[in-house]
Amino acid sequence: MNKRDILIDKLDKAKLGGGQKRIDTQHGKNKLTARERLDLLLDKNSFEEIGALVKHRSSDFGMDKIHFPGDGVVTGYGTISGRLVYVFSQDFTVFGGSLSETHAEKICKIMDMAMKNGAPVIGLNDSGGARIQEGVVSLGGYADIFYRNTLASGVIPQLSVIMGPCAGGAVYSPAITDFILMVEDTSYMFVTGPNVVKTVTNEEVSSEDLGGASVHSEKSGVAHLTSANDLEAIEDIKKLLSYMPQNCEEHPHKIAYELGNETRDTLKTIVPESANQPYDIREVINGIIDEETFFEIHEKFAPNIVVGFGRLAGRSIGIVANQPAYLAGVLDVTSSQKGARFVRFCDCFNIPLLVLEDVPGFLPGTDQEWNAIITNGAKLLYAFSEATVPRITVITRKAYGGAYDVMNSKHIGADMNFAWPSAEIAVMGAKGAAEIIFRREIASAENPTEALNEKETEYAEIFANPYRAAERGFVDEVILPEKTREKLIKAFAMLENKVATLPKKKHGNIPM
Ligand code: HXC
Repeated sequence: MNKRDILIDKLDKAKLGGGQKRIDTQHGKNKLTARERLDLLLDKNSFEEIGALVKHRSSDFGMDKIHFPGDGVVTGYGTISGRLVYVFSQDFTVFGGSLSETHAEKICKIMDMAMKNGAPVIGLNDSGGARIQEGVVSLGGYADIFYRNTLASGVIPQLSVIMGPCAGGAVYSPAITDFILMVEDTSYMFVTGPNVVKTVTNEEVSSEDLGGASVHSEKSGVAHLTSANDLEAIEDIKKLLSYMPQNCEEHPHKIAYELGNETRDTLKTIVPESANQPYDIREVINGIIDEETFFEIHEKFAPNIVVGFGRLAGRSIGIVANQPAYLAGVLDVTSSQKGARFVRFCDCFNIPLLVLEDVPGFLPGTDQEWNAIITNGAKLLYAFSEATVPRITVITRKAYGGAYDVMNSKHIGADMNFAWPSAEIAVMGAKGAAEIIFRREIASAENPTEALNEKETEYAEIFANPYRAAERGFVDEVILPEKTREKLIKAFAMLENKVATLPKKKHGNIPM
């Protein structure tokens, strides 16, 4: 059976609780119910429900006559692969999963327990937003959740799965959590819906085009992951969780691994001869890490940088890599935001960082400057600089300009910096450099083109290599590509007990 058949088989066997019906509204076909989702998410028989008998307290609009035990959200705890997690799953069949005062209290209760006991919270969101019949107590309930999300940030992993509507201020709870996964076609997130948009701006837009999974995974970057349906979403969230520890005091679980021949010949031929030819950095990532362990985050957002989790000799690591196959791997506003966010997550939860560098610099232009490439580029610089987890960089090809500094250079606290023989570490590319510093000589030469070529070669010979940086100790070792995996396994093992502290402060002020 393939993965999907196994899941469907599992689903058939899952118990339908609470007499719920399969949901089939215009906004969500083939959605699982709140309890089916939990059945599939948690280890068999591990779920313990808390607050199943809670009732709402409102009486306006005849609400005192309508009660559903649990009030539209199933909350409790259970295990995933034997690890404790706290969960809530909103039930769209009860008042559209809308959030009442008591619904919010149930979520807050399990968040408080998760904080006290140091375990992740997973929220399965499927809600029409604030319970309209309740007014301000519902809004207060949201704020109580947002406050807890903020306090829990960096203490325990918080994962949000959007499996239906998530509208209005309700979006801000997932937004504060560490990762958002959206189910394609059945989920959407927006602060103001299509009707309000039409009234205010006269713009006509569908829910999907305004805030569907594709919009948020490609354009806004709000969603880190998307899955084809509820079943896949649940499997994906379990996989994501497997790379994380339970809380900020712990290290991620390491899978037993016996060292063997760690040379990987496939790495020898990935970087093309010509410095301007693209290649897919994912080939390098997959060549280095344990087979089939790469779990990419934000795959379709800012593709000029690739981020994700992987395993190296069984150890969980975070990977940040420039992508020469897209915009030559240049750093821009969105790729800087994407990289910075990921680096900070890894640093919160003791996940060591591997950086693969092939970057021609920052993207020039009015669009970038007006959209604050200065502030956004600084985010990535700041995120690396303050990260105290083990940090290793491998320069595969270009490390030009400010981007050399930013991409986890030795100068900003990287522990080990390796370079392949193909590395070029310079202020800029040889041609651009020659055009600037030899401008007069080239202009007055008999044959300016020939003169430019000569000067370009001269500059390249001096700087288009890793040896100047290695002489200074900015690069610890120039290594052969095929030996990279072996070197990294040893270096991360060497850094396992790294202790680094930041100066005493209340908190830093990352450029926002
Ligand atoms: C109470 C709600 C509800 C809500 C839906 N329902 N949303 N009840 N409060 N917010 C009920 C419906 O009355 C209906 O009840 C049932 O849930 C299913 O809803 P349908 O409309 O039939 O479903 P569907 O067609 O799929 O549409 C889903 C929907 C729509 C798009 C979510 O229900 C909708 O627009 N709801 C209102 C969304 C909204 O404006 N929420 C407030 C956002 S502002 P019956 O009994 O008929 O089955 C907000 C502020 C938060 O949340 C602020 C925090 C700071």
